[in-house]
This record gives sequence, structure tokens and C-alpha cells, in this order.
Amino acid sequence: MVAMGLPATASRGSAQLLPLVVVLLASLHFSGVKSLDVTPPPASSPTSALPLPAAVASPFSFSFDFTNASTYRMEDLEFEGSASATVQDHLLDHHVDVTCSSYGKDPTHCTGRVSYAHPVPFYDNTTGELASFQTRFTFAIVVYSSIMKGDGMAFFLACYPSKLSPNSRGGNLGLINSGDDGNNKAAFGDERFVAVEFDTFQNPWDSNGDHIGIDINSVTSVNATILPPRSSLNGTMTATVTFDNTTRMLVAELQLDDDDKRNLRHVQVSFQLTNQLNTLLPPQVAVGFSAATGSAMELHRILSWSFNSSLAPPRKGVIPSFFCFTNSKFC
Ligand SMILES: *[C@@H]1O[C@H](CO)[C@@H](O)[C@H](O)[C@H]1NC(C)=O
Ligand SMILES: *[C@@H]1O[C@H](CO)[C@@H](O)[C@H](O)[C@H]1NC(C)=O
Ligand SMILES: *[C@@H]1O[C@H](CO)[C@@H](O)[C@H](O)[C@H]1NC(C)=O
Ligand SMILES: *[C@@H]1O[C@H](CO)[C@@H](O)[C@H](O)[C@H]1NC(C)=O
Ligand SMILES: *[C@@H]1O[C@H](CO)[C@@H](O)[C@H](O)[C@H]1NC(C)=O
Ligand SMILES: *[C@@H]1O[C@H](CO)[C@@H](O)[C@H](O)[C@H]1NC(C)=O
Repeated sequence: MVAMGLPATASRGSAQLLPLVVVLLASLHFSGVKSLDVTPPPASSPTSALPLPAAVASPFSFSFDFTNASTYRMEDLEFEGSASATVQDHLLDHHVDVTCSSYGKDPTHCTGRVSYAHPVPFYDNTTGELASFQTRFTFAIVVYSSIMKGDGMAFFLACYPSKLSPNSRGGNLGLINSGDDGNNKAAFGDERFVAVEFDTFQNPWDSNGDHIGIDINSVTSVNATILPPRSSLNGTMTATVTFDNTTRMLVAELQLDDDDKRNLRHVQVSFQLTNQLNTLLPPQVAVGFSAATGSAMELHRILSWSFNSSLAPPRKGVIPSFFCFTNSKFC
């Protein structure tokens, strides 16, 4: 609009209009800038001349409905061990299996992980800013025998990329490498994790009965909540895990969707993370699900998953300074 008006104004050639022309020329500069702005350069382009101000950086989020294959891309997911996406089954049964599916595989002694295939920001190592994040997932634990069920699943934050240990079956929940012998130990280095476990098998180190717990580098929970009487981790459930960057509280809430309304089936577990998150995990992490079976089995299925964080991943190729025209009166 400004560009079209300029030649008409200039053609009048009036000295009285000179201040206006200067203003319009300045406007033209801005309109040129704006048109660059409207057409975003490819994210990978290092020649991106106009970085957006930091305030515009959008927080990080993703959302998948695994019952509908057109809501996610396989390249955004990392499958390890026995984990798989079931899309070729009968039409109404699409989901992600974290351990062996019941179709044609022995579902015992399985271990698997499915995680987001890209790094997720947890804190900024240069500014010290921590992410607040929330994740919600609807999942199903399909139990066939109340006496031979196990072992459970977990939502985890771990070093990126996720690395499943083959020796993480049974009570190790696909989280930790300590064999199948119940000799559980502490993870360190690249194997560190923070997790929320949904545990259906009582190992010697476990709470008595189906429980949810918070695990830090060990499958011996730092805090656990046993499900109320007559409730079990069987069926479809929705969990919400929230981390608040001011209180550093990690809170997990579980709602059992198959609630018959006679029981209040809503359980919570929480734990305050250390004020030195850098001792827990690196600035960018892998997030996802792990699960395992032993000689007892059940199915661990994720139906939908959303995640959001207040901290955006660092933008590559951005010049973190105030943009300014050289040779401009407005500098
Ligand atoms: C699956 O997701 C796509 C894309 O969001 C949507 O258009 C479609 O209606 C969904 N299908 C079903 C059966 O919900
Ligand atoms: C927590 O996140 C907010 C953005 O939601 C940010 O402004 C604040 O600095 C963060 N706090 C810490 C302690 O990192
Ligand atoms: C994400 O953030 C919004 C608020 O910005 C919130 O309403 C929503 O429930 C959050 N949680 C998830 C899992 O997306
Ligand atoms: C698990 O839940 C299903 C559906 O509610 C039920 O039919 C089944 O008996 C339960 N299994 C056990 C072992 O409790
Ligand atoms: C364990 O979780 C419960 C439920 O959120 C909470 O009331 C309790 O304070 C937590 N205990 C510890 C040690 O964090
Ligand atoms: C974080 O920053 C500290 C120094 O500020 C550095 O020693 C450390 O290696 C950094 N960690 C990562 C994972 O970048």
C-alpha cells in the first residue's frame, strides 16, 4: 500500500511534501521488512536476516491420537524393543503397544519403549530457566489373569536419545538395566531417568499392591500411592503428569476411565525434584513410555498422548540481538 502511494506522491514534486516523502520512504523500509517477515525463511536457513524477538518463541507441544493414524507421523516416534504401532489390525483397534502385542508374539519376557523422536527442552543451561511441562495420556493395561499379571509401565524423562536396555525386563519396567533377577540398582550417566511408574506386580522393593510411583534413577520409588481397595491398573486410564518450574513439584494423577462410579478411583502421587536439575538430567531430554513383562504378562497400550512445555527448544541460527537497520535514522 505504501509502495503504491509513493510514486504518486513523488510525482507532485512539491518541496512542502518533502517531510511526508521522508516518512513514506521510511515506511517503505518497514514494509519491505514486513514482507520478509510474512514469508518465513526455512528453519534451517542460517541467512535468516530477521530473527523473531524471543517473546514470540512459541512454547513446545505435541499431541497424538494413536487410535487415528493420520494424527501422527512415524518419524516423530522412536520404537525400541518390543514396542510397535498397531495400525494394520481391525479398523477400530489402532494404538501403540509398548510391550509385545497379543498378535502372534509371546507376550511374556518383553520390554519396550516408545518415545518422542526429538529432543525435548527440560531446562536452559545458559539462562538457568526451567521448563514447566504437562503431559496427558490415555492408556490401557490389559490384564488377563489377576494372579499372573505384570509388570507395569512408566512415563519417563531420560537422556536423549532414549536407550532401552535389553536387561530391563520384568520389574525393571524397561527403565533400568539390572537383569531379570530383582537385583535393582541405581542408574547413572546416560542411563539416568525420572519416571512415573504404573506398577502391577509386587517386587520385593515395591509397595503392596497396584500402585503409581515416582522413580528417580531406580525402580524403588521415592514416593508411591497404592490404588484404593477394589481398584486395579486394569482397563483404560488417563494420567496427567505436571511439573511446575516454581515449586519443582512433579505431580502424577491417574483417573480410571472405566469407573463404575461406586469407587472414587482417582489417585495422585507427587515429589519435589531437586533444585539442581542439572544433576538429574541434561538440558534436553527424551520423553516417552517404557513397559515390561516377565513370566507374568499383560498388555501395555497407549491410546493418545499430548505434551506441552513452557520452554521452547533453542532455535538454530538465530542472532540473539536487537534487530536494527544499518544506515537508518531509526537506530
Ligand atoms: C483422524 O484425524 C484426522 C486428522 O486430524 C481427521 O480429519 C479425521 O476425521 C480423524 N478420523 C477419525 C475417524 O476420527
Ligand atoms: C518458569 O517458566 C516461566 C514461563 O512459563 C518463566 O518465565 C520462568 O522464568 C520460569 N521459572 C524458572 C525458575 O525457570
Ligand atoms: C497444555 O497447556 C494448556 C495451557 O496452555 C493446558 O490447557 C493444557 O491442558 C496443557 N496440557 C496438555 C497435556 O496439553
Ligand atoms: C480387567 O478388566 C476387564 C474389563 O473391565 C475385566 O473383564 C477383567 O475381568 C479384568 N481382569 C482382571 C484380572 O481383573
Ligand atoms: C507423596 O505423594 C502424596 C500424594 O501426592 C503427597 O501427599 C505426599 O506429600 C508425597 N510425599 C512425599 C515425600 O513427597
Ligand atoms: C551446563 O553448563 C555447565 C557450565 O555452565 C557445563 O559445565 C555443563 O557441561 C553444561 N551441561 C550441558 C549438558 O550442556
